[in-house]
Amino acid sequence: MAIKFNYQHALNFVKEQDIKNLKKETLEACNTLVSKSGEGNSFLGWLDYPVNHDLDEYDRIKKAAAKIRKDSDVLVVIGIGGSYLGAKAVIEGLKKYFNLEKELEIIFAGNNLSSTYMVELLKYLENKSFSINVISKSGTTTEPAIAFRLLKELLEKKVGKHEAAKRIYATTDAKKGALRVLATEEGYETFIVPDDIGGRYSWFTAVGLLPIASCGFDIDQLMKGSFDARNDSLHLAYEESPFLQYAALRHLLGKHYPVEILVSYEPKMAYVAEWWKQLFGESEGKDNKGIYPASLIYSTDLHSMGQFVQEGSRIMFETVLNILNPNEDLVMKEEKVDLDQLNYLKGKHFDEVTKQALKGTVLAHVDGGVPNLEILMDKIDEYNMGYLLYFFMFSCGVSCYLTKVNPFNQPGVESYKRNMFALLDKPGYEELSKELKNK
Ligand code: PA5
Repeated sequence: MAIKFNYQHALNFVKEQDIKNLKKETLEACNTLVSKSGEGNSFLGWLDYPVNHDLDEYDRIKKAAAKIRKDSDVLVVIGIGGSYLGAKAVIEGLKKYFNLEKELEIIFAGNNLSSTYMVELLKYLENKSFSINVISKSGTTTEPAIAFRLLKELLEKKVGKHEAAKRIYATTDAKKGALRVLATEEGYETFIVPDDIGGRYSWFTAVGLLPIASCGFDIDQLMKGSFDARNDSLHLAYEESPFLQYAALRHLLGKHYPVEILVSYEPKMAYVAEWWKQLFGESEGKDNKGIYPASLIYSTDLHSMGQFVQEGSRIMFETVLNILNPNEDLVMKEEKVDLDQLNYLKGKHFDEVTKQALKGTVLAHVDGGVPNLEILMDKIDEYNMGYLLYFFMFSCGVSCYLTKVNPFNQPGVESYKRNMFALLDKPGYEELSKELKNK
């Protein structure tokens, strides 16, 4: 099992008996998920995706990725929410902090409405050789649609319409949406976002795999990780299963602590936390329910938000993502004159400092009244990343059914869109436009 779960440091706040008592309900929630009998069950394609995904498309993804690496210096990935966060999380997590080799540069666009970002990006790309992967399940989302219109225009100006069409890859619904129509009309290579998989559960479909493979990462290992996670999620007993224990513990803690902070000591995991926030926030935060998902990177944030966590309002529990083996490490040496007074670290691994900071922080925060959960991950590589992300999706599904909310819709996201369209005078929104402009 690539992930382990430890709740010893939550036992001042929940009783073992409460965890035992929640077994029946958690198993029922799990069964609702696995038997596909709960609300939102038409969006459960991700559950078995590691075992039944389309191998022909998978092969085309690998070929397209190789072509992108061959003919471009930059890949611009256009998408928002679930149509970019998974890819960004995996890529940021796997790539080196400082790239010594000349690798494909990946730039994400269409995930904000900053005119400054867009103009600066267009200028930056003027002298670069680039490809585009535009991703939108609905094919109608405003942010990526605007970005695509502008970037497509630049690419066509640079290489001509015919060549541009060979460098644009569209990932969208099999049949419907403006992007599908556009892609067919212009002859782009297309990949499918399965009907039964929502954005935040789609990182291991073409949505995430094409950008990830284009960066040179081993998607076979990523899929193997999620395959094994699926297997473990289906077969482990309640007492042994990190999938069920995490769901149960956060459910119990959530009754008294409305905020969960996901903490990592590895800055490159910051976007895994962003993806996790979307996963839990959009899945669980509805019907006036849900635990507010927040994230911090330690030890950076121990020197800012650490004060609040230690002594501020007692509203949160922490879930620490503990990566057991760092990808790189070094041993601290002794200096002849101990001017910086660090000779006491002589012979210690750098990572040991990290691990003691982690231990010390957990103990201090627990003393300060912050319950602590720990997810232990062997190391950061494709396999473990695939396992971790599936782990979170499965636990999230169980958590939501425990809370009795539909994990797979996001009705609240529509409200801002309606207002924005009305305020921009989009046809069809005339009534709302009048109403809002009078406010
Ligand atoms: O998880 C989700 O469903 C959302 O975050 C969507 O992915 C996001 O709104 C983008 O939608 P689309 O892919 O249709 O452009």
